[in-house]
Amino acid sequence: MQRDARFKGRTVVVTGGAGGIGREVCAGFAREGASVAVVDVDESAAAALAAELGRDVGADAVGYAVDVSDQAAVAVLMREVHERLGGPHVLVSLAGGSLGTPKALEDIEPQHVDAVVDVNLKGTFYSCQAAAPYMTQAGGGAMITTSSIGGRQPSPVTGVPYAASKAAVVGLTKRLARELGGRGVRVNAVAPGLFLTGRLQAMYDDLPEVERRGVLDAIPLGRFPEVRELVDPVLFLAGEEASYITGVVLDVNGGRFMPL
Ligand SMILES: NC(=O)c1ccc[n+]([C@@H]2O[C@H](COP(=O)([O-])OP(=O)(O)OC[C@H]3O[C@@H](n4cnc5c(N)ncnc54)[C@H](O)[C@@H]3O)[C@@H](O)[C@H]2O)c1
Repeated sequence: MQRDARFKGRTVVVTGGAGGIGREVCAGFAREGASVAVVDVDESAAAALAAELGRDVGADAVGYAVDVSDQAAVAVLMREVHERLGGPHVLVSLAGGSLGTPKALEDIEPQHVDAVVDVNLKGTFYSCQAAAPYMTQAGGGAMITTSSIGGRQPSPVTGVPYAASKAAVVGLTKRLARELGGRGVRVNAVAPGLFLTGRLQAMYDDLPEVERRGVLDAIPLGRFPEVRELVDPVLFLAGEEASYITGVVLDVNGGRFMPL
């Protein structure tokens, strides 16, 4: 059931919407009244989640099968969302990850670098680029990109291409915030620590015991987070409560990375 109507009349596009974090983000917006475009390369998962949100939350939700690294497809997506659901007023770019690429330096081939950069960096750029005119037309909007603690400081959990792409997302976010501020479009990033969604649980379990202990010991709050502990910061950045916040990176990591 809807908790309140913080996002009533708003259309939210969530890329990677069928993933471990994405599905909770979609549900969070849906529960607060938004129309939700669930965007994912996993067509059946996106469609199933949209149907679930319609059934269980009463949300106007549509699944879209789109590869965000395809600029033309992303442009079509935003037009279709605009025509079907309105807006979009909010974009959450979550599509990405290590995408099954190897972590060990000697195992990384050009196609692995391309895959990670194409989705994490270019996909985020294409999504923001395609959403910008609609947000401008609507008088403003909010974009939330996804960096990572692995892009904020060296982390043993992921490989170099992932770290580089997530660091680049920070630069992209700030540069876009500079460009789009005058159009009323705010652009901020979240940089999650380790959220043990299915994919990440397996990566964490594969770490040597000493590295696993090291990750946990480095978290001042002394525990791993629940996914809702990222959903609420995303909703905050998307909403009116953050109306004067743009170009920031919100580190959501239990204190594991604390820049001054
Ligand atoms: N889980 C964590 O601990 C963590 C930490 C830091 C950053 N992140 C970032 O958060 C985001 C979501 O992570 P998650 O844990 O939910 O991962 P996930 O693998 O569960 O979800 C990612 C989703 O993106 C989709 N996707 C992959 N390539 C795509 C493409 N080209 N176009 C459209 N969709 C595509 C996948 O099908 C999947 O549903 C990622 O960008 C990840 O790097 C996650």
